Parts: sequence; C-alpha cells; structure tokens
Amino acid sequence: MTSTEQEHSEQSPGAGTGWGDDSTLNAELEAGSPAAAKPVRQGRVLAIANQKGGVGKTTTAINLATALAAVGERVLLIDSDPQGNASTGLGLTHEERDFGTYELLMGAAELHETIRPTKVPNLSIVPANVELAGAELEMMDLEHRTHRLKHAIENRLAEFDHILIDCPPSLTLLTVNAMVASDAVLVPLQCEFFALEGLSQLLRTVERVRTTLNPTLDVQGVVLTMFDKRNNLSDQVAADVRGFLGEKVYETVIPRNVRISEAPSHGVPALIYDHRAPGSTAYMALAREVIKREQALRDAAE
Ligand SMILES: Nc1ncnc2c1ncn2[C@@H]1O[C@H](COP(=O)(O)OP(=O)(O)OP(=O)(O)O)[C@@H](O)[C@H]1O
Ligand SMILES: [Mg+2]
Repeated sequence: MTSTEQEHSEQSPGAGTGWGDDSTLNAELEAGSPAAAKPVRQGRVLAIANQKGGVGKTTTAINLATALAAVGERVLLIDSDPQGNASTGLGLTHEERDFGTYELLMGAAELHETIRPTKVPNLSIVPANVELAGAELEMMDLEHRTHRLKHAIENRLAEFDHILIDCPPSLTLLTVNAMVASDAVLVPLQCEFFALEGLSQLLRTVERVRTTLNPTLDVQGVVLTMFDKRNNLSDQVAADVRGFLGEKVYETVIPRNVRISEAPSHGVPALIYDHRAPGSTAYMALAREVIKREQALRDAAE
C-alpha cells in the first residue's frame, strides 16, 4: 500500500465510528453517495441583544438554548456579559469559569479550552468571569478589536447547530463583537411603556454593523417578554410593536411568570425547574419558531 492509499484508508469515513460492520453504509460512504457529499452544516450564530437592562436577554438566552437542546439541537451559549448571569443561571461554579469569554477575546485560550458542559444534555457554555469587565478597555488597543469573537469561533461552527451569545446591556465593543460574529440578532423586548424607545437605536446599530463590519447580519426577530395579561398596557405595547415591526415579531409571547424568575437561584433553566410552567412552554414554542426562521435564513444564504 502506498502512503497515499494508507492515508486514505485511515481516513475513510466510517472507520472507527462504530459503523464498521455495516458494509452497505460503508460502501455508500466510500462511493461518495449524496448523503456523504453533503457539505458540513455550519452552526448559526445568534446574538441576543438589547442595550436596555433587565428586558429578558439572559432569561431568553438560557431558556431558548435549553429548549433548542431539548429537541436535539447541539447548542453552545456564549456568556458575553461581565455580570455572568447566564453562567450563574446554568449553575456554573466559580472554578468552572477560569477560562471563558474574556480569555477567548484576548486570544489567551482556544474555544475548546473555554467550553464547559452544563446539566442540560446537548448544551454547553463559554462562561463569563470577572475579568470580562475589563475586556472593553483592553480590546481598544488590540488588533481586529471588532472581530475578535468572530475569529475565535469561526473554525468550529460545524460542531454546533446553534451558538447563542448573551450580550450585556450596552452597545459597546462586547455587543459589537457579538454582532460581527453572528448571522442574526434576536431582540428581547419587555412589554413596558418605553419598550419602543431604545429599539430604534438598537436597529440603527445593527444597520451600522451590517454596512461596515458584517454585511450578512440580519435581525432574526423580536420576542416580547414579561407579557402580563392582566395589564392592558402589555396588550397596547404588543400591538404597537407588531404595528411597527410586523412579521419581525415572533408569534410567541413570553408571559410574566414567577417560575422563570425563581429558576436561576437554583442554577437551572426554567425549563428544567418546571417544564410545565407557562414561561417554559412559551420558550419551547419560541424555539420552534427560531428553528423555522433559521432554516429560512440558512436557505436564503445558500
Ligand atoms: N418572563 C419572565 N417572567 C418573570 N420574570 C422574568 C421573566 N423574564 C425575566 N424575568 C426576570 O427579570 C429580571 C431580568 O431578566 P434578565 O436577567 O433575563 O434580563 P437581561 O436583559 O439579561 O438583564 P441585563 O440587561 O441586566 O443583562 C430577572 O430577575 C429575571 O428573572
Ligand atoms: Mg443579562
């Protein structure tokens, strides 16, 4: 056997994968059947962003990630907020946060060194530690300061179906890095009186990132959060937002639900804490919509 033949036989698909005895499957794979020739599917990256504080970004990141994982998608959540709420909400100890988003942005660690498993099957996290608070300033003097997250993750996108990035409540360098690394932005919007006020600023930022740094960036959708059916204002805000943004607003509305706010103190997503709670079932419905929209955007991009 020549060295090239040997190389080929060592790399042949199916070798050492547990498919060894299935000669039909192996023959198909060797022959380059349509299934084997399929291009590797790249995971889609979604930034969960809104510069307003406390609108449900982290709650959406944790529970949407869990709901996607629950239907068998491989999900990575990147905690890009120095508050580290997503890491806490998923029960990570401080020791488990020694390598995280800060190290990734600084080039001090590779993505695989920063990924930690969670209690949720199919869901991993890149945690945030206190160092991340200094990242904005430190990145100012670094090369490619807006593309650092993108460069850190772009070679490993095929290992996941969805990569969600939990952004801080600001539109500065951490959020810009998330938007540059992303295919689309998902905006949680709280059903309150000033909901629309900050939205135009956010949409302008997305537009600026699109025209200057990431031409394929999309807004995947806006999700209404903390909807209170006993409060007329919630209805009014939901109607205004739908009037302004039309189909960009997901049909699913996340209700205000005490089980959602209790879950993080137990270090588990609401979906695990009480999967029958109205908030949990709403996040499952949101995951179905997100998968549908991602597929449409993916198809449009191919
Ligand atoms: N649907 C909901 N029902 C009840 N409480 C909720 C709901 N969504 C979020 N909360 C609570 O509201 C608070 C703010 O939510 P969250 O931390 O997700 O917002 P955020 O946008 O990530 O905040 P920050 O801007 O500080 O990062 C938290 O205490 C959370 O538990
Ligand atoms: Mg948050």
